[in-house]
Amino acid sequence: MLVGVGLGPGDPELLTLKAVETLKRAHKVYVPGRLAAELVAPYAEAEILEFPMLTDYEVLNAVWKKNADMLADESKDNLVAFGLIGDPNFFSTFTHLKRVMNKFYPGVETATIPGISSITSFAAQTGSEVDSSFEVSDGSDSKFRVRLKASKPLEIIESYEKEGFDKFTFCERLFSDREVIITERDKIPEKGNYFSIVFAEKE
Ligand SMILES: C[S@@+](CC[C@H](N)C(=O)[O-])C[C@H]1O[C@@H](n2cnc3c(N)ncnc32)[C@H](O)[C@@H]1O
Repeated sequence: MLVGVGLGPGDPELLTLKAVETLKRAHKVYVPGRLAAELVAPYAEAEILEFPMLTDYEVLNAVWKKNADMLADESKDNLVAFGLIGDPNFFSTFTHLKRVMNKFYPGVETATIPGISSITSFAAQTGSEVDSSFEVSDGSDSKFRVRLKASKPLEIIESYEKEGFDKFTFCERLFSDREVIITERDKIPEKGNYFSIVFAEKE
């Protein structure tokens, strides 16, 4: 299994228990750079995988494929961890590696362990507060929306569809034993509860 492990925003004390446990158990740990290697160092010796900062998708795809080729065999029967700054599912090389791995090596299971992201943790460090809708951008077009307090998911989805969103995930009480995750549009219920999120995507 190939697991993306969130290492948090840079403070060695801001790794989760699950991240530490996974790094200790892993057969092999890879990272994309020195800072990540330093955060992993107390638990495992990490190998740095090359992920150049490029914008040419053709070249990038070739690099992701090369890395997937390299990790596929050992990830099939062993726990292989890929440690990333912040959270592995936000603006991270791991999402691309995972996508390419799933496409070319469907026999390799993939998963992610969330990490404390710079997107939320900057507020603690700078004394900032966010208590209404906000935007996170890397300068590219906006393709995603996260709706909190989604107690009327269907109503929310219908209004988002008018804005061009066409893929939805509804989730409720995540990480609890009453967790609900629904990705089929037609199965999303009319009512959620307070601990509900709608995640919307468009091309
Ligand atoms: C490729 S994104 C990675 C985001 C990361 N996966 C996360 O969840 O925080 C890199 C950008 O995240 C922001 N970032 C990440 N860690 C940061 C930190 N410790 N302090 C300030 N910005 C940070 C910077 O804007 C940086 O350009």
